[in-house]
Amino acid sequence: MGFWSRLFGKGEDQGSAPDREPLDLSVFRYDFHSHLVPGVDDGAPDLAASMEMIDALVSLGYQGAVTTPHVMADMYPNTPETLLPPFELLQQAVAQRHPHFSLALGAEYFLDANLLDTVQRDGALLTPGGRLLFELAFSAPPDAGLLQEFIFEAQVKGLQPVLAHIERYPYWHEELHRFEELQEQGVWLQVNAASLAGAYGPEIQGAAETCIEKGWVQLLGTDAHGMRHIDALNAARVRPALHTLADQAKNSRLF
Ligand SMILES: [Fe+2]
Repeated sequence: MGFWSRLFGKGEDQGSAPDREPLDLSVFRYDFHSHLVPGVDDGAPDLAASMEMIDALVSLGYQGAVTTPHVMADMYPNTPETLLPPFELLQQAVAQRHPHFSLALGAEYFLDANLLDTVQRDGALLTPGGRLLFELAFSAPPDAGLLQEFIFEAQVKGLQPVLAHIERYPYWHEELHRFEELQEQGVWLQVNAASLAGAYGPEIQGAAETCIEKGWVQLLGTDAHGMRHIDALNAARVRPALHTLADQAKNSRLF
């Protein structure tokens, strides 16, 4: 019995569950987390790379994508002003090749004092549909006060906070109740498809599977930086946890 099975008392963890038939991904309709804007972060380096990923998303059945470049103080000091011109170039190319594929510009905001300050003073943020995608550090848990204040302020401003790739925060792997608590506070939780294919290792795969099984996950994302993530998405189509999420998506307004 694996670690996750012992933790949650299941007889069999999904990591060892047999594969299913490849899932038709059109059930998810939109991808909510990706790095498709060329040349602005560690995602697509140029338009050709962006279009290769979008071609693949179209052929996998997606109707559209919210693309979410990194915004992180020193590393990726992107703003709506810096992101809009390359996004519009991409949008034009997509409109020509895939006229029915809708593309929206969001961002993946790193949670820090800058982000809290921007929310508090009504600064410019990319929040399509009112959704504010944010991520935490991978190495150490966030300051609890900062996290709580951010959630509160975002909600007061009428924004929907969405926590990116919840399975990728190893410091919470033995405290998965954190995600249940966040969900109860009204935060939406997003999982990366690649995690379900084991792309980040078995622990992250197990955390993603458990969170899905618990019904805590509202959104699926490719988090596509390059074709490796699209390949992982394709590989994840046979995983039982993705089928579980697809069943939940059919009954949900969130996907
Ligand atoms: Fe991302």
